[in-house]
Amino acid sequence: MKFSTRAASVERLHSDCVWLAVAGGKELTASGLALDAATNGQIAAALASGDLAAKAGSTLLVRLEGDVRRALLVSLGEADKAGEATEKSWFDAVRAVAKAAGGVAADEVTSALHEAAVAGRGTEWKLRTQVGVAREVAYRFEQMKTRNDSPPVRPRRVTLLVERAHATLAAAEVARATATANGVDLAKDLGNLPANVCTPTYLAEIAQKLGREFELKVEVLSERQMQALKMGLLLSVARGSEEPPKLIVVQYQGASNGQAPVALVGKGITFDTGGISLKPSAEMDEMKYDMCGAASVLGTLRAIAEMKLTINVVGVIAAAENMPSGRATKPGDIVTSMSGQTIEVLNTDAEGRLVLADALTYVQRFEPRTVVDMATLTGACVIALGHYHSGLFTRQDALAAELLDAGHDASDTCWRMPLDDAYQEQLKSPFADVANIGGRPAGSITAACFLSRFATGYDWAHLDIAGTAWKSGAHKGSSGRPVPLLTSFLVARSEG
Ligand code: BES
Ligand code: MN
Ligand code: ZN
Repeated sequence: MKFSTRAASVERLHSDCVWLAVAGGKELTASGLALDAATNGQIAAALASGDLAAKAGSTLLVRLEGDVRRALLVSLGEADKAGEATEKSWFDAVRAVAKAAGGVAADEVTSALHEAAVAGRGTEWKLRTQVGVAREVAYRFEQMKTRNDSPPVRPRRVTLLVERAHATLAAAEVARATATANGVDLAKDLGNLPANVCTPTYLAEIAQKLGREFELKVEVLSERQMQALKMGLLLSVARGSEEPPKLIVVQYQGASNGQAPVALVGKGITFDTGGISLKPSAEMDEMKYDMCGAASVLGTLRAIAEMKLTINVVGVIAAAENMPSGRATKPGDIVTSMSGQTIEVLNTDAEGRLVLADALTYVQRFEPRTVVDMATLTGACVIALGHYHSGLFTRQDALAAELLDAGHDASDTCWRMPLDDAYQEQLKSPFADVANIGGRPAGSITAACFLSRFATGYDWAHLDIAGTAWKSGAHKGSSGRPVPLLTSFLVARSEG
């Protein structure tokens, strides 16, 4: 699905279908009124018949006589006193249009949805969210199917009608949204792939491929190189598996050599059985998603490389498979991290923090200004925040504000959680410098506290995406989060 912008008036267009927003079940926007006038009131007549319900997301397809062959009308619900729709109504409406359009025999369509007013949001945002939502609706994961019976994605082309004065800006927004959607799709594909395909080696190959496509510098460290670097934690997690671990480093240079990079660090557990602290078997298949942090690193790098953002970014992925075996790390084992700290592994299922700890030490060599790690780290975060906000942990208020803003801008939100030193008490070990678990209370916070012991020498934030990286149930699938948040964060950094 391709998006473009065009500065033209609707009555001069030739189009298979025009998408129009309707407020309060009857109020057309400028293009709607113009098209109605040009078609002898056919749209107003359809609305007068009462066929379009006022509820946000209701749709009505009207056939027209003329160069525009159809209008797809969508309700934005009742407008507020200022005549604006809510953000939720906007998303309901855009999603409904994208879904309905899939069943209309129109390959190229024109959208004027963004003429509707949405409280607190501007035209650029409305253009971007249309691209994001339509691409989300169009997403399919069919790589593993030999029989493909799903209908073709429709429409193929969407032209966004814009005012001439805004044409350049609008085109830039559409390009940005397209690059972001491409990054989201990559992250989704990697997440949805089964663990017998998406291994640490596979992730490394995808990173290499991305590197060739977008001129990124990619380096993959082998188990031998990890041994030389004394990455005892990453190695201890991989010990039980036949799949060799990989530390994947991807560098994007969009700014001058001297500019300190932002580092993105991703948890890449390609399958988490829990290890010797074996997980229960119900829904264990979903632990193929335990590499979604890693997928978001690659997705975000793809997005910013396509945008040619003027910023330096280094992505580091700690990839391993967490399996039980005769060689696997056992509860009570003590291992030494790359930082030199010793860790008592009381629970082998708390493996994400172990692989991330070594990656957070490794990333110091790039002298980053800021490091953000992404991880499907704790079930406790899902209990705390559910599936809406990702958990945000950082000691830097300014960095917290940047990430919260980026999440709001991208509608991929996070919520700040505490990270007080008081919680470090729970990680005390009688035998080693630190234990890898801190008991049931505040589970997502003690996990972040563990990471904080290794995240030294730079500003650092941690995103726990355990509740947001994928959906369970009938619509099981990767969400691609937090690629939109991270991309928006880096766009703002590159501009600031
Ligand atoms: N990958 C899991 C966290 C997870 C579980 C994410 C369920 C999404 C859904 C992580 O490696 C893990 O197993 N964490 C343990 C930590 C515990 C042993 C302290 C957990 O959350 O149960
Ligand atoms: Mn685990
Ligand atoms: Zn895990």
